[in-house]
This record gives sequence, structure tokens and C-alpha cells, in this order.
Amino acid sequence: MTAGLRKLRGRVLAWYSRNKRDLPWRKTRDPYAVWVSEIMLQQTRVETVVPYYERFLRRFPDVPSLARAREPDVLAAWSGLGYYTRARNMHAAARAVVREHAGLIPGDREALVALPGIGGYTAGAIASIAFGSPAAAVDGNVIRVLARILGLRGRRDSAALRRQVTESATSLARGPRAGDWTQALMELGARICLPRDPLCERCPAAQSCLARRSGTPDRFPEASRAKAPRAERRVLLIARSGARVLLVQDEADSRATWTLPYARLAVSSPRSARALATRILGKTLAPALARGSFRHRTFSHSLTYEVWSIDLGRAHASRDRRQEKATKRRNVEEIWVTPGELRRLPVRSHTLKAMRDLHR
Ligand code: ADE
Repeated sequence: MTAGLRKLRGRVLAWYSRNKRDLPWRKTRDPYAVWVSEIMLQQTRVETVVPYYERFLRRFPDVPSLARAREPDVLAAWSGLGYYTRARNMHAAARAVVREHAGLIPGDREALVALPGIGGYTAGAIASIAFGSPAAAVDGNVIRVLARILGLRGRRDSAALRRQVTESATSLARGPRAGDWTQALMELGARICLPRDPLCERCPAAQSCLARRSGTPDRFPEASRAKAPRAERRVLLIARSGARVLLVQDEADSRATWTLPYARLAVSSPRSARALATRILGKTLAPALARGSFRHRTFSHSLTYEVWSIDLGRAHASRDRRQEKATKRRNVEEIWVTPGELRRLPVRSHTLKAMRDLHR
């Protein structure tokens, strides 16, 4: 590392010590707790994660307790955080750690990356924060921060820029306070070196930042080519029986979440709602009622959900459960739940939204 970079590293670390947010996972170096925090923080904001992190650690305080848990209980503790594959992978990883590492989370990058759900970024974060290893954790934020400081050109999503940043980040990772350094870069990206209008006047790296010297720091890194979100219409079915509604496992989510039955819609018509109802429920004479529609944007899709409800009468749910005729049809589990039970299950927002609209 050059003398200039060493000085920069020292200044950023000093800034971190004075300005870091008081977050619960920063009070521990327990590898399990650090691991839980890093998995939760993938794709999810810090403020959202805090209460989930605390609750999850109370419920599953260590690797053995998570490894012993039943999957539905793990998913229930994750309910509301989204991206449920993360919870399933954590559960599988806890079992692998018990089986292959005597219950102790390994400290080296290769062994960490071999566990389900741990990629290069998370492995670098755990190795440095929990074990003090000189490992870099490079994500979109770190790419932005280092591309700016070092004046690296290239598109945000380009492999060449990532390679250059990773090289510099690996060199900067060597030095005292490895874990603090990893989190200092994250903190800089989250609080100061913002994507638009970075707060350069408060930045501990401002003196040596080449992007700042250029006069237009937010041009680093260059934007990726935008892809238009794909538009899709879907029919969403609220099948009711007394106080209960029917949920099915979502195949699009590897069955990790529960959803009101839905299907892609080619043409919008009551016929498509009926066709979905017949497929899910078998033949029924109950009429399908239009409940309106709502839009839902995801990262890659612009979805329009048409909501239909169908009332099967009070007795249907218990008969259905007794006969278990629906269960495992199409290899997907189906359950009848009350609104209270629904709230405790891992469900995606389109299901919650349709249920809210129904009760308005
Ligand atoms: N994002 C990912 N890891 C984080 C951490 N340890 N602290 C704050 N934000 C993060």
C-alpha cells in the first residue's frame, strides 16, 4: 500500500470511530451474529433490519439452535424481511456448519463462500468483521466509493470496474482494524458518498478524492444501461370460506413464501379468473367477483394485479382440510388461513395489499 493510501485509510477510520451509527451488530464480534446481520442486510435497509436482527437472535441465539429449528419456524422469524431464499440458505448453512465445522463458523473466505447464501461480499464482511482478517467486501456501494476516491472510470455494473475496485479494496484491506475498515467503507457509502449529490464537504477522503477534483463526483461510476421493467398482468384470486382464505406456496419463490393464487394474464376477462379458480379449486359454481386492480413495481417488473374473489361457503375450508384433496396438487401445499394467521406467515406484499383492499 502506498503512503497516500495508508494516510487515506487512517483518516477514514478516524472518521468512522467518531461518526459510526450505533447498530446492534457493531457491539459484537460473534461470527454467528455478524453472519445473521450481513445476510439480513443484503438487499434490505439498516433501519428495517435492526428489529428483525434482535428478534431473530433471541429466537435462534446460536448456530446449533438455528440448525435444530424447523424450516417453517425460521421462515416465520424472517416474515416481512422478504427475499426468503436468504432464510432458507441460512438454515441450510447452519446445518452444514454443524456437520462440517463442529458448529463453529469458519473464518477463512474459501470455507465461508462454500456455505449456502454466502457470496464473496458477505464472506469478506464476515472474515474481516468477526475474525479481523484482511478480506475485502466489494458491493455496489464500495464500488461507488472507491471508484470516486481513486478516479476509476467505467460503468457501475461493468466487470472491468469491479475487477479494478476489488484489486484496490484487497490492498486497502491489509492493515489494522480490518473489520472497522470494512464497515467504514460501508458507512461512507451510506452516509456521505451518496449516489447523487455526495456530501463531499463532510467526507474524510475529500482531500485525496479524484472524482471530487474532477468537479462532478456523481459521474463516478457511470450509470449502467437502464433496462425497462417488464410489464405483466396477473389475476389474483381470493378464495374465501368463512373467515379463511386460501394460500398456496409460491413456486416463483421456490415455495419459500405463501401467496394468494395468481396466474399470468394474457387477456383480461372474468373467464381468466374462473379458469384460475377451476384450476386451483376444482369445479365450483360460486361466482367470481371483480375486486379492482392495483399496480406493483418490483426491480424487474411492472405488475398489474386484477383481484377476484370467490366465496365458497363456510364449510368448504374444513372439508378441504379434512380431505386434504388440494394438498400437494401440482406438488404445491395449500392452506386455509384466517387474516391473523396470514400475518404470521412469510408472504409477499401483493398478497398483503390485496387483503387490505378487500377489508377496506
Ligand atoms: N450493510 C452491509 N453490512 C453492513 C454493516 N455491517 N453495517 C451497516 N450496513 C451494512
